[in-house]
Amino acid sequence: MQAITIAAPGGPDVLKLGAVPDPIPRPEQILVRVRATALNRADTLQRQGLYPPPPGESDILGLELAGEVEAVGSAVTTVAVGERVFGLVGGGGYAEKAVIDARMAMPIPEGWSFAQAAAVPEVYFTAQETIFTLAGLKRGETILIHAGASGVGTAAIQMARETGATALVTAGSAEKIQRCVDLGATAGCNYKEQNFAEWVQRATKGRGVDVIEDFIGAAYWDKNLTSLTPGGRLVLVGVMGGVKVETNLGLILRKRLQVFGSVLRTRTLADKIDITRRFQASWLPPLAAGRIRPIIDCRFPLERAGEAHQYMEDNRNFGKIILEVP
Ligand SMILES: NC(=O)c1ccc[n+]([C@@H]2O[C@H](COP(=O)([O-])OP(=O)(O)OC[C@H]3O[C@@H](n4cnc5c(N)ncnc54)[C@H](OP(=O)(O)O)[C@@H]3O)[C@@H](O)[C@H]2O)c1
Repeated sequence: MQAITIAAPGGPDVLKLGAVPDPIPRPEQILVRVRATALNRADTLQRQGLYPPPPGESDILGLELAGEVEAVGSAVTTVAVGERVFGLVGGGGYAEKAVIDARMAMPIPEGWSFAQAAAVPEVYFTAQETIFTLAGLKRGETILIHAGASGVGTAAIQMARETGATALVTAGSAEKIQRCVDLGATAGCNYKEQNFAEWVQRATKGRGVDVIEDFIGAAYWDKNLTSLTPGGRLVLVGVMGGVKVETNLGLILRKRLQVFGSVLRTRTLADKIDITRRFQASWLPPLAAGRIRPIIDCRFPLERAGEAHQYMEDNRNFGKIILEVP
């Protein structure tokens, strides 16, 4: 089959389409003819050699896929050849064929394109597990979503709105903030022009927010703690702004704050199957009904994966970047 290969760790131009052996499904897996996959920030790190795949996973990039079932493993009874499926994978999406555990392969909702389906798993699973399973965001609460225009951010805004929570966002341009507001955010702060912690105090009339979904890490640590209301919850989901901080632990103590961390990729298969089931029960219905939707910024053919990576690293996307596989 054809897949995107990495000659040596480096910039986007190391990504080349090349011939590799077809993956072979284990008894509990299915072989999918991939029609669409989507980019995630983690792919750009893996390309640079900074985020190796977990043991046993494909070393081909790609954490989600949508396509047609081409073959099923000997133990699979729930999925049939020819069905349209989508789901989360530990790797292998940037290819014509990939394997996925049958318990993680979900039927594509009626009327959805492969691109729409491929835009969903990583960002919706991440927002579900961090904002709801860990931080327990509830109706009536306020959440601050950093990088509101990111793939995860655009999912998080809509899920907060669907829950009846107020979503505040940060983003790097007025245009991105407007698009976040169009999706359901109440207001946004351009972090390049304003101190977001001061902005949060004004936006919440000095109360602070109940939950923060943070992808930035060290650069935002102090301002995040300041922005939380007493009893608030901070979820660390990414570290785009560094990993080391010197902190005032007294603030966590006095405000009774809770700090969570989460990474989806290294969870066990059993955990990922549970996460898939929770998603099918809670978030797939409003997605299938069209009340919330996958936000697609643009599409590239698979062979132009390098250009797609450059586009993401230039922070140009609002929502997901899709790779279409002919
Ligand atoms: N823990 C997990 O399980 C998990 C799963 C999925 C994703 N993630 C993490 O979630 C984050 C978002 O991923 P994604 O794929 O949705 O991202 P994405 O679509 O590439 O969006 C990332 C956005 O973040 C903003 N940004 C980049 N560097 C920044 C910085 N230093 N300071 C402030 N803002 C910055 C940029 O928007 P602006 O133009 O607005 O600055 C950029 O467009 C990443 O950190 C990723 O690693 C974690």
